[in-house]
Amino acid sequence: MKVSVSILSKTIKGQDIVKELDKTKADFIHIDIMDGKFVENKTWTFSEIKKITSYSHRPLDVHLMVDKPSKYIEDYALLNTNDIIFHYEAVKDVNEMINLIKGYGLKAGIAINPDTDVKVLFPYLKDLDLVLIMSVFPGASGQSFIENTPDRIKELKEEIINQNVKTIISVDGGVNNETALLCKEAGVDMLVSASYIHQDIINNIEILKNL
Ligand code: DX5
Ligand code: ZN
Repeated sequence: MKVSVSILSKTIKGQDIVKELDKTKADFIHIDIMDGKFVENKTWTFSEIKKITSYSHRPLDVHLMVDKPSKYIEDYALLNTNDIIFHYEAVKDVNEMINLIKGYGLKAGIAINPDTDVKVLFPYLKDLDLVLIMSVFPGASGQSFIENTPDRIKELKEEIINQNVKTIISVDGGVNNETALLCKEAGVDMLVSASYIHQDIINNIEILKNL
């Protein structure tokens, strides 16, 4: 199982955490970017993120919870970024965003909110490297996992298999050892977690990796 560790909270000392992540089997550092418009909260600025992540060798999984994602791509392409994820709900032209991200040689991902039908993504799957299923409403860590998420993952997985494409499914929000297992059974490929992992970084990453 792939594991991406969210370092969302302003209260966490970012650089200490990323240094510690280098000693673990975490696959990615999940960077949550919030603009105070698409979601209420705001997170670090680009220069803060650049500084924090310079202390780690782990590639970045960048989750843009912002109104105008196109403005952020050029900056994040300069870092050790694996993929950039924008929200379906934030853009008018999905293909244009996918092409913009891929134009920088990065993997392109799309996130969908818990109340958006996964079927809206079906026409784009062949061009997407990753779909991020939100299992909470975006904006804050520490929320509870929304129960119907595994059904949404299953529906998406079936379509990925039908279309014979290679899109990865990731899940974000309220992920712990129990909810992760439900997501795994539904067909998820990657887990994003903040609160659960930060309770005990080394052990809990190990638990999720070994699911
Ligand atoms: C939620 C963020 C998540 C969040 C996950 O808006 O996108 O990445 O940090 O936090 P937990 O794992 O605490 O739900
Ligand atoms: Zn996120």
